Formats: sequence, C-alpha cells, structure tokens
Amino acid sequence: MDKGTPKAIHLTAYRPSTHLIDTVDLHVDLREEATTVRARLGIRQNPARAGAEPLVLDGQRLELVSVTVDGVPLGPDGYILSPDHLTLPDTPDTFVLETVVRTRPQDNMALEGLYKSSGNYCTQCEAEGFRKITYFIDRPDVMARYTTVIEAEKARYPVLLSNGNLVGSGDAADGRHWAKWEDPFPKPCYLFALVAGDLRAVEDRFRTRSGRDVALRIYVEPGNEDKCDHAMRSLKKSMAWDEEVYGLEYDLDIFNIVAVSDFNMGAMENKSLNVFNTKYILARPETATDGDFLGIEAVVAHEYFHNWTGNRVTCRDWFQLSLKEGLTVFRDQQFSADMNSAAVKRIQDVQGLRTVQFPEDSGAMAHPVRPESYVEINNFYTPTVYNKGAEVIRMYHTLLGAEGFRRGMDLYFQRHDGQAVTCDDFAAAMADAGGVDLTQFKLWYSQAGTPELRVTGEYDEAARTYRLTVRQTVPPTPGQPDKMPMHMPLVTGLLGPDGKDLPLRLAGEAAPGGTSRVLELRAAEQRFEFVDVPARPVPSLLRGFSAPVKLTADLTDADLTFLTANDSDPFNRWEAGQVLGVRILLGLVADIQSGRPLALPDGFVGAMGAVLGDAGHDPAFAAQALVLPGESYLGTQMAVIDPIAIHEAREFARRTLAERLRDRWLATHRAHAGNEPFSVDAAAIGRRSLKNLCLAYLMARPDPEAVGLAIGQFHGSRAMTDVIAALQLLAGSDAPEREDALAAFYDRWKDDRLVVDKWFNVQATSHRPDTLDRVRALLDHPAFEIRNPNKVYSLIGAFAGGNPVRFHATDGAGYAFLADQVLRIDPMNPQVASRLMGQFSRIRRYDATRQAQMRTQLERIVATPALSPDVFEVASKSLE
Ligand code: PHE
Ligand code: ZN
Repeated sequence: MDKGTPKAIHLTAYRPSTHLIDTVDLHVDLREEATTVRARLGIRQNPARAGAEPLVLDGQRLELVSVTVDGVPLGPDGYILSPDHLTLPDTPDTFVLETVVRTRPQDNMALEGLYKSSGNYCTQCEAEGFRKITYFIDRPDVMARYTTVIEAEKARYPVLLSNGNLVGSGDAADGRHWAKWEDPFPKPCYLFALVAGDLRAVEDRFRTRSGRDVALRIYVEPGNEDKCDHAMRSLKKSMAWDEEVYGLEYDLDIFNIVAVSDFNMGAMENKSLNVFNTKYILARPETATDGDFLGIEAVVAHEYFHNWTGNRVTCRDWFQLSLKEGLTVFRDQQFSADMNSAAVKRIQDVQGLRTVQFPEDSGAMAHPVRPESYVEINNFYTPTVYNKGAEVIRMYHTLLGAEGFRRGMDLYFQRHDGQAVTCDDFAAAMADAGGVDLTQFKLWYSQAGTPELRVTGEYDEAARTYRLTVRQTVPPTPGQPDKMPMHMPLVTGLLGPDGKDLPLRLAGEAAPGGTSRVLELRAAEQRFEFVDVPARPVPSLLRGFSAPVKLTADLTDADLTFLTANDSDPFNRWEAGQVLGVRILLGLVADIQSGRPLALPDGFVGAMGAVLGDAGHDPAFAAQALVLPGESYLGTQMAVIDPIAIHEAREFARRTLAERLRDRWLATHRAHAGNEPFSVDAAAIGRRSLKNLCLAYLMARPDPEAVGLAIGQFHGSRAMTDVIAALQLLAGSDAPEREDALAAFYDRWKDDRLVVDKWFNVQATSHRPDTLDRVRALLDHPAFEIRNPNKVYSLIGAFAGGNPVRFHATDGAGYAFLADQVLRIDPMNPQVASRLMGQFSRIRRYDATRQAQMRTQLERIVATPALSPDVFEVASKSLE
C-alpha cells in the first residue's frame, strides 16, 4: 500500500451521521468526453448529534467543478478537498448544497459507481459506489427523496432510466434528450440507479392484490428479447408469492429490470430499477442449463423481495448487511422450495453452505454473520453473511414456527417501515412476536465458526426410555479464541424397527405429541429423555438441517443404511447416505495416504444400487442421493486437507461404482435419454439430472460405449443441460473426440457470451493433467475478456475454486498462476481480484509444503505497490 496500511472500521465505533440529507436533485449530463453531475442536496444537522460539526462528504475519483451553499459560490478556502472527502467546516443548520463534478465512466473498470457496459451507461452503488458519482454522505442511515434528470444523445442512448416514476421527458438541442425521474420513497444512496443506453424492453403487467396495475419491463441489448420469458415469469411468481406468504405488495406503478454484461455480482435491488448480470436474466433451453433457469428464478425473486427486506426497511450500517441479505436469501430459498422440489432445494442449499461457507468459517477470513470490523466492506458480501445468515433466519422460523415467524415479520415491518435498522431490531421483533427470549440466540450474530455437535443415544430396554446426550462446541476463529454455547433447534425424530416414525413423548410430558420435535439446545451438554419407546429406535437428528452445524452421531453403518431407506424426512434420508459416503471416502483417503490397497465396501455398492434401482420413483431425489460427497466438503471433514488423496479416493469410488453397477447406469440413462419436450418443471429437471448423473458414472470408465453415448448426447440434444453435461465429460476424458467436441461447441456458440463462459468453465474444471497449461493458453483466446467478471470467474475462478486437484498441484504452479492473475486484475477491478483470493484464505487448512507455497505468493501480493484495500485485507489476514 502506498497510502500506508488501510484502516479497519469497527462496529463499536458507530455514531449517527452529523448531518442528514432529506432531498437529492441530480442532473446527470452524459457526454462522450466526460459526464457532469450536478447535485442539489437539502441538508440539515442531525438532531441526534449535539452541536455544530463540520460536514464531511464522501467522494472519490471526482473532478470538482463548483460548490455553492444556499446559492452562494464557495471559493477554494471555503472547503477542504482530499482524495476521499470534501469537507465544509462551517455550514448553516439547514441549507442547500450544490456541487458540480465531472467523471469519466468510460474509464471505470471497477464497475462500481457510474460505468459503461457494452456501450451503455449504468450504475452500481452498493455498498459505497455513490461517492464515485457525486459528493455525498455515503452511508445507509442517511435516507433521502431523489429526483434525477438524465440528459444524453438521443440516437445512442434512447432509453433513460432511474428510480421511481417517470415525471417528464423531452428533446434538447444537438440531438440530445432528457428524462426526469422521481422516487417518492426515501432511500439510502446505495439504492440509487441510473441507466442510459440502446436497450429493448420486454413488457408485461402485474395486478397487485389491492388492484394496483404494475408495468413490468425487462431491458436487454437488442437481439436478446427472446431470452426474457423465464425471468419475466419468475418476476410475476415472486410478486404473487410475496403477497400470499408475507402479505407484502409492490408499492409503485413501475418495476424495471436492466440486464448488463459487465457486473461484479449477480444482481442489484436498486429501488424499482434492478440491475442484473445478464447471466441471471437471459435463457432459452438451447442456451441455458437447468441450473441457470433455477438461478434466474431465485435471483429475480431475491432482488424483488429486497423491495421490502432491504429497501423499505434498510440497514443502519454495513455491519448489519445480513439484516437484509440473510433474510432475503431465506425468503428466496422458501420461494424456490415452493416453486420446485422442496427436498432437492434444501439439499442443494445445504451442499452450497458446506462447500463454500464451512471452508470460509474455518479460514483466515472467518467472521460472524454480523462482522465486528472490516477494512473493505466489499470483502464482506460473503457466504457467511448471505448463506449462514439465511440459516440464522431459518432457525427463527423453526423456533417460532411458521405462524410465529410471520407475526415477527409483521411486527418488524410495523415498527421499522421507512427506517434503517439493526439485526438487534429484527431479533427484538421476533422475540416480542414469539414471546421468547432470544438473548442467547443472538450469539449467532457475533460468534464465528461452525459449531460442532456430538450426539450419543442410549436405549434402556427395561425402562423403555431412549436418552440423547448432545454436546456442543464452537471452534476458535481469528480474534475469537473462546466461544459460548449457542441456542439452536435440533429437530429430531425416532424411527422404530419397522422404519416408521415413533410418536414422541419426552419425560415429564403427559402424552405423546408429533413425530418430529424441535429440541432446543442451549447448554454445552444436554440430555433429552424419550419415554414409552417400545424398542431400540434409530434417531433422525437435525432434520431438514435445522441448524448450520457439523453433526457427529454414534450411528452404525447399518443405522445409516436404515435411515437412507426409511427416514420420513427427505433431507435426512439423503444426509444418511452422505454420512456413510464421507465415512467410506475418508477411509479411502487414509488408505491412500498410507499406501494400502483400496476397496469399496460391498454394502455401500449395494446401497447405491438399491437407490438406483428405485430411481424411477423419484428421479430428482435419486440424482441427489447418488452423488458422492464433494471434494471440498470432504476437505472440511479433515484436520489437514489432502486435495490429491481426496480426489483419488473419490475417483476410485466413482470408477468402482461405475464398474459394479454398469448395467444399471446404462439402463437408467437409456430410460431417460429420449428427447422429451423441454420443460423446466421439477420433475423434468429431476429426470435430466438423473440421466446426466448416469452418464457421468459411465464416463468414470470411458469405454467406447460410454464415449459413444456422450457424443450422441452432445450432438443430439437441444437442451443446454444435456449438451454441456456431455461436453464436460468428454473434455475431462482422454477420448480423442474431446478436441473436436470443444471446437464444435465454440463454433456453434461463439456469438453468445454467456454460452462461451460455459466453454471456458468446462476446460478450467477438467481434471486432465494439462489443465493449467490450457487455462493459461485460454487467457489469450480472442473470446476471453479480462475486464468482464463473468469471463474471469468462468476461467480463473473456476480453476482456483472448482478444480482442487489441479489448483493444489504439488509443484505450487496453481498458486503462482492465481497470484499472477490477482495482481493483473487488481488495478482494474479490485472486487473481482479480491474474490479470486478466497482459496488463499484457507491456507492454514493445508500441509506445511502447500502453506509455504501459498505464503510465498501471499507475500508477493502484499509487497506489491498500490494494492487495493480489497486484496490487501484478504492477503494480510491470510498471512497472520
Ligand atoms: N445487494 C445485492 C444482492 O444481494 C448484491 C450486490 C452487492 C450487488 C454489492 C452489487 C454490489 O442482491
Ligand atoms: Zn441480496
């Protein structure tokens, strides 16, 4: 850092703003040489802060043209200008400040603030991008009413959009035109947005419950109008669902979405003007996979749901980010569960948590759901804040029940509509509505690390009692050596010998009630005694993954197999198979490490065969149950991660299953291989995933028949899900046809940027030994764009995060490659560079050699001059 070490900001240092801004009138003049922004701000001192204090406005990379206070121009001695601030030492109690600044959006590669994407102007203000557009008090507890006038050349930028309602428009001199937008709802500046470009709108309408007619528009680049159906359908479903489940209606007459190709994240919930990464809007069956379709539905819903959870009620400060993100992810998860297969959705959400959030929770960047400090807020848009945050909301839901939770939500909106609040305010609404004490529960906001539960069960035949003993610990994390026990719901059932759920009665209860119970854990060690238990039961613990923990239970392989066959809770039926899989795979890892011969237990092959034999009943579920635990998740279960042994163990198991169950994989693949008409309903998606899973097993031993099937599917299917699945398998194999297939795919899709991303991804995640060389070569491919985040994530990110065996190669070449790319991207786009650093922050989880190799790269990174705070924070914390 040339500016010295960047400083951390602490939650405990929060103070209300010295000033409030009630009104913002913007005039944005977009011109090819530069953009001029005139901002007229209605400012007053904040009554919550006593005494007159200087006004400190945030501003970065702005060229200041003029400043006036109540119409009177200020000379240079009237203010203090620094690279990050404009300070007015002496201002009236209430006044109008007008600033004029110039910026050059065309040079903005960071994609934060005002920038250009494919020739169109757009903005991204969360978290602190508004300060790159104009001088402002850039913090979410300063909420104002905005009017925005946009002026631009009419031919190049026919569409001019901002938040709220269009209140005027017209032509101006020199082939220019303007539009005036007015947003009636006070909002923090991070929800401001502006778009100007040559875009086409796909239109629809939605009538709200109370009869408001809302115009829905999705704006895309010309030529993409035929790829918006699914996004539009998803939007209308989201609007209906939020009314039905939460009683929440949309509050304006317009809802606009704009899809842009260059975007750091998935999408952004700007008030009535959501801006999306094209990846989460554009889809046709030929271009998008089932995963893409589901992703679009989830992200469209997520951003729409933010209108209430985020926009109407927003965050006091950025430490409270999970207030809106955890809650909104939970809401989008509930929505997707209602729209599709709830069981598969839950399984996938838990898999996501375990493969991405668990590693974060045990690495150098581990932080609580509400972080206590940060150097760069952009580094805290994390799986912990989003996904673990959603698990915390899910636990309120489980503890209070669906109705109690709804009452809590109602109370939250009743109390806080129009305010900027904290996670404590949310917890208070839940506690008051549910009549429960959530003091201890709130440790979920402040303690980092994944809690570990150990459960043992004892059956007393004579007394007919079954006693569960539960011990919990929370591991130390950076800055948090000692932890307290957490309050969490352990949803539990007991299966009798016939595989049926037993009615449950706890000691002291008059009568049995239900077959699934919410046991509340609060202490480091707790006992629960069930009475009237006729025979030794098999416990089904943590049903639905009722808390984000690592669970170890004293179940035998036979108990687990029994659960896979009988558990009434679909998540736990799947999970029992995973626990068994983890056990076996970790055994194989140990065998590899000590040079013992490998063998897959017959019982396991038999159990998998049974699931496969029964797959026709519920293909979607079978497709989940037949996937072995992933390499990243297996790593979280080891004291020292051995990526090569994990990969070899898993591949050995896959090859063995391929061989032993070959006829069944073949038959099942064949049974689903017919070209049924395309649909994205849960059943059709389930059938495709089962079919492609069978093909993947067959290709684990790529004999000519398997390769023939893959090639047939690659050329014969019109659904991208099938095409890309086949291509992925071919690209990872030694089959000589693989290069032709890759070339044919590129040739067919080279004009579709999102599909080309898949082509990069397939090559970056190939397990072939030459993958790193290939990735390096692809950096120079004409279709690769280092400035486009989607491309960087598809090639570099996919290699580092999605290909552990090659990224962690023993020669350390993967690490050097990643560091090179981080240093190349950082000067252009620090957020993207920092996101690529994720793998380095797990440094301590590896052996001494790998640690030393990663350390070398991290030291090289921190020693680089002019490093961004984003990358500096991750690199320096990883070295601690
Ligand atoms: N707030 C966005 C969301 O989760 C994510 C985002 C954050 C987008 C920061 C851009 C920048 O919906
Ligand atoms: Zn969000």
